Amino acid sequence: MLKVDIMRSLAYLFATSGATTLLTFVAHLPNDYQGVSMKSTSSSRHACFALVALFAIATTSWSQIRVVLHTDQGKDTVSRYIYGSFSEHLGHCIYGGYYVGEGNKAIPNTRGIRKDVVEALKKMRIPVLRWPGGCFADTYHWKDGVGPKNERPTMVNQWWGGVTEDNSFGTHEFMDLCEQLGTEPYISGNVGSGTVQELAQWVQYVNFAGTSPMSQLRARNGHEKPWHVQFWGLGNEAWGCGGNMKAEYYANIYRTYATFMPGGGGNGKLFRIASGANSDDFHWTEVLMHELGDMVEGLGLHFYSVIDWNNKGSATEFTEQQYFATLQQALRMEILVQKHSAIMDKYDPLKHVALCVDEWGGWYDVEPGTNGAFLFQQNTMRDAMIAGVTLNIFNNHCDRVRMANLAQTVNVLQAVVLTDGEKMIVTPTYHVMEMYAVHHDAVMLPVEVPLSPYMFGKDTLSAISVSASRDREGVTHVSLVNIDHRQSRDVLLDAKGMSWKSVSGRILASKAVQDHNTFAEPERVHPVVFKEFSREGDLLRVSLPPCAVVVLALQ
Ligand code: AHR
Repeated sequence: MLKVDIMRSLAYLFATSGATTLLTFVAHLPNDYQGVSMKSTSSSRHACFALVALFAIATTSWSQIRVVLHTDQGKDTVSRYIYGSFSEHLGHCIYGGYYVGEGNKAIPNTRGIRKDVVEALKKMRIPVLRWPGGCFADTYHWKDGVGPKNERPTMVNQWWGGVTEDNSFGTHEFMDLCEQLGTEPYISGNVGSGTVQELAQWVQYVNFAGTSPMSQLRARNGHEKPWHVQFWGLGNEAWGCGGNMKAEYYANIYRTYATFMPGGGGNGKLFRIASGANSDDFHWTEVLMHELGDMVEGLGLHFYSVIDWNNKGSATEFTEQQYFATLQQALRMEILVQKHSAIMDKYDPLKHVALCVDEWGGWYDVEPGTNGAFLFQQNTMRDAMIAGVTLNIFNNHCDRVRMANLAQTVNVLQAVVLTDGEKMIVTPTYHVMEMYAVHHDAVMLPVEVPLSPYMFGKDTLSAISVSASRDREGVTHVSLVNIDHRQSRDVLLDAKGMSWKSVSGRILASKAVQDHNTFAEPERVHPVVFKEFSREGDLLRVSLPPCAVVVLALQ
């Protein structure tokens, strides 16, 4: 199959760019292309060229790729939790972002929580929200954040600028936020600097319905009924800011905490998420899967699309080379998910344990003039591309990836909402999350996508990314991304197993990949109705402009 993909890709190159580009591409093919051996002797490459040229002449209809959609092979569900978000006590995510304080007269709010942000996020439909960190979580002592606000002690936010945290946004405020958003909470517990007792008591405070010191404290603080929070993280980045632990040591610590937080998942039982690997630390996953047995319901994974941690580059002013490199990073998610899943499969072939990618997104230099520790960055069409391809990867691996949390929601990293005083805008990433919401809890339909090369220098990426699902009403949704910076692509969609009568669509695209919304121009990037498709027999021809995200509905 992969060999056929390469052939098709080569044929495409020959068709669109001629023999020189094709030869360049063949010359730069890695020796092992996604597991397919491509010996780099010149004779084999020339043989390959000859074959491909023949193939191209014989079969290729030039600037198009054929995507096969198996509508009759859907078996796994795209968990809505894949579309989760993450909000940390960091910069202006919580304070100024969500929460402006109950007494605030300038910014409309409900019990201190901004109405404009809630309205925007409700439209995007966040199914699960992770809080309070991140690195902050392993410094957070929850009891400091409950009770009368004027009695709450302050603390130093050691990871994020050493600012004073006044604890005015704590458990009750977070639960209020989740209720206003219609989202499920995911509480990330303190393992790094807390105690087993402290975290077990937090669970009781939040969830226990009977009489206990913690449930009575909750009632005294104004909430008689328990909230029944299902998702609990046991530490964050235990290999780094969460305690600089070794995998083996964390596995033991985890087992202790998990003992006092009995889980099982579903039916009101806790769903415990272990602090997972840092990108390609496969040893971490191996050890946790070996050691945790049935004491874990979810295993985390953190991966950011960063070109160079020492030189991340501007969020808005970047070259094509930087754009390409960022997307190259983003597409690594496919390999990471495949490899971590393969390890999990060894220990858990029935896939009881979910892979929870509970931090992902782009990370650049902060906006000029802003606090370097607050991680405030703009969000362009490049970020829309990251979101589109990443969510397609998660959808296509929904048998194992059953939760993911974009980092972060408001004013931090790849945010969906930015605020400035009383002003608020939504970002291109917001629009992708909103457009893709059609996949929530729908049945994933497998797709075959041939490699359609997007080349820069010596490197090649697959220009087109696709995922598809069928919702409860029987509507088939297909999300397509063309990351190519310059060239459009015609996709011939072959929806096997269904006969569709009508098609509708929306597109997010813009003139330049650097385009973004600003407080002065909040609507520069937004989705519009898409009509660049036509029927060709049983196939659907879809014309994708450069750097575009399209979501189609077929019925
Ligand atoms: O999202 C910002 C930080 O990135 C989080 O606090 C941490 O978990 C990760 O390193």
